Amino acid sequence: MIQFGIIVRNLSSSSALQSAIKNVTIIGGGLMGSGIAQVTAQAGQNVTLVDVNADVLSKSQKSININLGKVAKKVFKENPQEAEKFVTESLARIKTSTDPVSAVQTADLVVEAIVENIDVKHQLFQKLDSAAPSHTIFASNTSSLSINEIASIVKRKDKFGGLHFFNPVPVMRLLEVVRGAETSEATYKTMMEWGKSIGKTCITCKDTPGFVVNRLLVPYMAEALRLLERGDASARDIDIAMKLGAGYPMGPIELADYVGLDTTKFILDGWHKKYPEQPLFNPIPILDKHVAEGKLGLKTGEGFYKYEKK
Ligand code: CAA
Ligand code: NAD
Repeated sequence: MIQFGIIVRNLSSSSALQSAIKNVTIIGGGLMGSGIAQVTAQAGQNVTLVDVNADVLSKSQKSININLGKVAKKVFKENPQEAEKFVTESLARIKTSTDPVSAVQTADLVVEAIVENIDVKHQLFQKLDSAAPSHTIFASNTSSLSINEIASIVKRKDKFGGLHFFNPVPVMRLLEVVRGAETSEATYKTMMEWGKSIGKTCITCKDTPGFVVNRLLVPYMAEALRLLERGDASARDIDIAMKLGAGYPMGPIELADYVGLDTTKFILDGWHKKYPEQPLFNPIPILDKHVAEGKLGLKTGEGFYKYEKK
């Protein structure tokens, strides 16, 4: 409920939280991209959501519809007509596309939320750099890659930064705003203002591995998987321990399933390659095995736990 307090305040005072950004293109319509599309549209901005896979886009539209319904039910609980209007109008602000080049033609801001792979991100941004208007700001939602490295292939390095959201995006109140070495002051300020305009509390991060949250959270999840792998405790008991003993809303193994075991592995593998001397980033065989078997967590219906298919 506290989390929704922020959304309510933001909706009711949206005129006080104006941003220079009106048109936002979000590339990647998966777990994160669909959440970013939702919060942007519900704050009154125009969204184009892009994915290489048209099926992903229709799945995203369905989940956005359901999640907007949850928000509407709380914000307009006394007024079902307003609730319906809010959902319809927010949905109408979201266009979808499978063509990133045409989708950035009118963008003020591009937020990239595709697979956590530097080569794939480079290919995308190189294409976008020549297609987008010169004023367009580019941002990556990367969990673990360096913003400077991602930005290295674009010409507009001053208009490139990190906008790191948290899962589930409509509920998590934080946005990490990452300043790369060449991010201009104007770009940084616009990113901070935009984050506020969509109801997030922004913190400023340097371009360091995992910024703030993931530098703490990923080694914590990794250590929990190592406990499990050694047979020190069951997954269920590890999760209960951290929920009841430390007050976390989810245990670390549940959280790894929730984030996606593939994403968790991409993060750890990338850091291990870059910092081989850091034992916290060492590969975890039990994680690698699950990913190799396609058990990626909640999104595939099985990870360390099994989930009912939605
Ligand atoms: N959209 C809108 N509303 C949503 C929603 C969504 N996608 N998902 C949940 N909600 C709402 C529910 O309607 C519910 O609202 P009320 O409490 O008002 O009824 C509320 O959020 C709580 O949801 P649930 O009752 O379904 O479940 P819960 O109480 O168990 O909470 C949770 C679910 C919010 C996910 C909570 O377990 C939690 O905070 N978990 C930790 C999540 C976390 O740590 N995220 C960060 C991951 S790391 C990351 O994202 C960075 C990275 O780079 C990997
Ligand atoms: P996901 O697998 O759910 O979605 C990624 C989507 O990108 C897929 O639908 C895929 O089809 C699409 N895609 C891949 N290449 C593409 C391309 N070239 N053009 C357009 N679409 C393309 O992944 P996710 O969990 O949403 O993660 C996306 C990004 O967000 C990653 O960088 C990840 O590290 C980061 N992130 C993830 C989390 C999390 O909890 N999962 C949290 C914060 C940040």
